[in-house]
Amino acid sequence: MKLWEINSSEIEGDAQSVMRLGTQYQISNGYMGYRGTLDEYRSEQQVGVTIAGLFDQVGDAWREPVNAPNGGYTSVEIDGSPVGVLTSEVASHRQRLDFHRAEFERETCFKLGTKRVTIRSKRFLSSVTPNLCVIRFSISCDQDAKVVVRTGIDGKIWDLNGPHLVDQVFSKNDDALLVNAWTQETGQQLTVAEALHCPFGKEVYEVEDQLNLRVIEWETQAGEVYSFDKYFAVVCEKDKLGESVPRTALAIAREACRQGYDRCLRDHQQEWAERWLRSDVVLEGDDDAQLALRYSILQLLMVAPVRGSGNSIPARALSGQVYKGAVFWDTEMFMYPFYLHTNPSVARDLLRYRIRTLEGARRKARSEGPGFRGAFYAWESQETGDDACSYFNVGDPVTGRELRTHFRDKQIHISGDVAIAFWRYFEHTGDDSLLLEGGAEVMLECARFYASYAYFKKDKNRYELLDVIGPDEYHERVNNNAFTNQVAKETFDIALKAVEHLRATYPEFLEELLSRLDIESELVEFAEVAKLLYVPRPDETTSLIEQFDGYWKLRDATLEEVKGQLVHPNEYWGAGQGVAVPTQIIKQADVVMMLTLFRDRYDAKVKEANWKYYEQRTEHGSSLSACAYALVALEFGECDFAYRYFLKTAKVDLEGNYKLYAGTIFIGGSHPAANGGAWMTAVFGFAGLQVTERGLSITPRLFKKWKRMQIPISYRGEQFVITITRREVIVSSSPKNRNTHRVLVAGREVTCSPGSSVLTEIQENALEGAC
Ligand code: BGC
Repeated sequence: MKLWEINSSEIEGDAQSVMRLGTQYQISNGYMGYRGTLDEYRSEQQVGVTIAGLFDQVGDAWREPVNAPNGGYTSVEIDGSPVGVLTSEVASHRQRLDFHRAEFERETCFKLGTKRVTIRSKRFLSSVTPNLCVIRFSISCDQDAKVVVRTGIDGKIWDLNGPHLVDQVFSKNDDALLVNAWTQETGQQLTVAEALHCPFGKEVYEVEDQLNLRVIEWETQAGEVYSFDKYFAVVCEKDKLGESVPRTALAIAREACRQGYDRCLRDHQQEWAERWLRSDVVLEGDDDAQLALRYSILQLLMVAPVRGSGNSIPARALSGQVYKGAVFWDTEMFMYPFYLHTNPSVARDLLRYRIRTLEGARRKARSEGPGFRGAFYAWESQETGDDACSYFNVGDPVTGRELRTHFRDKQIHISGDVAIAFWRYFEHTGDDSLLLEGGAEVMLECARFYASYAYFKKDKNRYELLDVIGPDEYHERVNNNAFTNQVAKETFDIALKAVEHLRATYPEFLEELLSRLDIESELVEFAEVAKLLYVPRPDETTSLIEQFDGYWKLRDATLEEVKGQLVHPNEYWGAGQGVAVPTQIIKQADVVMMLTLFRDRYDAKVKEANWKYYEQRTEHGSSLSACAYALVALEFGECDFAYRYFLKTAKVDLEGNYKLYAGTIFIGGSHPAANGGAWMTAVFGFAGLQVTERGLSITPRLFKKWKRMQIPISYRGEQFVITITRREVIVSSSPKNRNTHRVLVAGREVTCSPGSSVLTEIQENALEGAC
């Protein structure tokens, strides 16, 4: 089994497999995503070159990211007949995604009468020049033939709520092709420029059917391979790369063409080798799991935002326009831990996005409710931080009506999720500079928001959070959701800790901050609300935690019963009349999510009891759910279950086993939060890695099939490799490290100095919850 690639020989037939493969084989470099579609495909096959951080709105339709014209378009005609996977007879087809260098490759052999024509192409989105895509295209025929290649830029764009680009102008500038266009809403200019190196054929320039083309003709000789290289650059005004957007695009494409394919590839590969060195997790003894985990890591590496771009990662990454290209809690709660533990500079960039959008969160707090103050982050956040989530975010497939949902106005845990990520950055890296850069301000403003939201219930002498939605979106407008209340309480605690840290370390900075926010007098209130905030506790006899007030009184239906009530397969289970609403069936991990996020605060008994109760009642209608259940399962020894759910999470895009519709809304695309969840399950779960107050701690529970795990970790600015076998744990500290660290291995403290490797023997069965 090949462990560094996925490949498929499936000849794409129906629209669903075109969609699935397009997502599975997408490549991305943080600046743009390019779906894994074939060279000859057009908008009907959902070709998408999705740009990070560039949004547009047409009329009242949803605002979404902009897809650029496809500079990778190429089609081929042999002896007057067009060839293509969807229209010609295919002798064989194979497509491949190479993990080493995030490169997409296809090879198709067509049968044309007695002739066999083979087309190969490879493409990568440069990891060193974010605006650039590089393609090598080859053709060979087993007999002499007349070949016509049409290659250029396709201006026919696949949009969900478009068209976003208007006034497209197609032109040729000496040797290069150009498509220039402007977004509807803000008039942002975007240019795609293409340069080509083709050492054969006669070239004519042509524009037809929204294609800006070079038509290249030649006679092939039997068995000869004819290759040309294509370089296309996408540049937007927002990139601020130069005075003229078209000139910059032209310069990037031409410079790449001048350097040539091999040089571009070499630079790109080198960067990728470094990325893998920092992040590859080795799982020996289980190829299936290894491949799925590596695919997940590849996705996370590909979608990390371009340094300094100010962007974050959308819930469907750059695989298209689904979920409005918006950033959700998915990023901080599911993807961010991977970056924090492997490459904290990316984690830092993700947090900077929240600093940059703090003003939007303040606007939302002011506009969303009476007397709300502070920062209420957008449930679906785009470039300004204003909420892209609509009040009617789901459609009913039966009646066609839009359903009122409260994700936007009631899912208040989002602010705490963001604040917690800031504090964890500080705890993990020891770097407090982000607190000064705006992190402390974010945390204080989130605490301020919760203080303004909290309701003091006099008879119970406690604060409550009323009328919210927890992670389980099927139950809206509930009171005292355990997860939400715990997250809010944590927000007060860490905001106050941040203040204490600043008071001790940067008193002048703190003074200026408190006075600028005019918040000093509220700090006492934060401490008071934190102390008196009600967080549902485990029941003394059953250990169960009620998800929200009144949850136990809901009908205790089975999943099958609830499913059986659906009138339409795509029907949404929540909102006003949804089938799950009057029942205890929940969409995704909620209490269990809390148990994993705050794993130190609950013992194994509580974890087991709640896991057992809620698992049977969870639909896992979100790809975010399974990893939380897997992580908690590992804490009391349900290893087979954890393993199954780990694979389910890691393979979500590989198996294409996900919902394509929520009501009438198309939600297909990639699942980077599940990718992050898979990494967390492997590293926090099976390897049992944790950052505690005493430092790194490792309590492995290797799955029975696994012989060895190897995990690179960045901690406190230093690099470590943890190797775990069934009998030992080796902690290796990079020779470049400066400090000696104490590490807890299965409860025993070891000391690890720079350049050393410390081996600790473990007895696999002695471990609590050993697998
Ligand atoms: C889930 C949310 C998630 C969103 C984006 C929804 O289905 O319920 O928790 O943030 O998808 O992934």
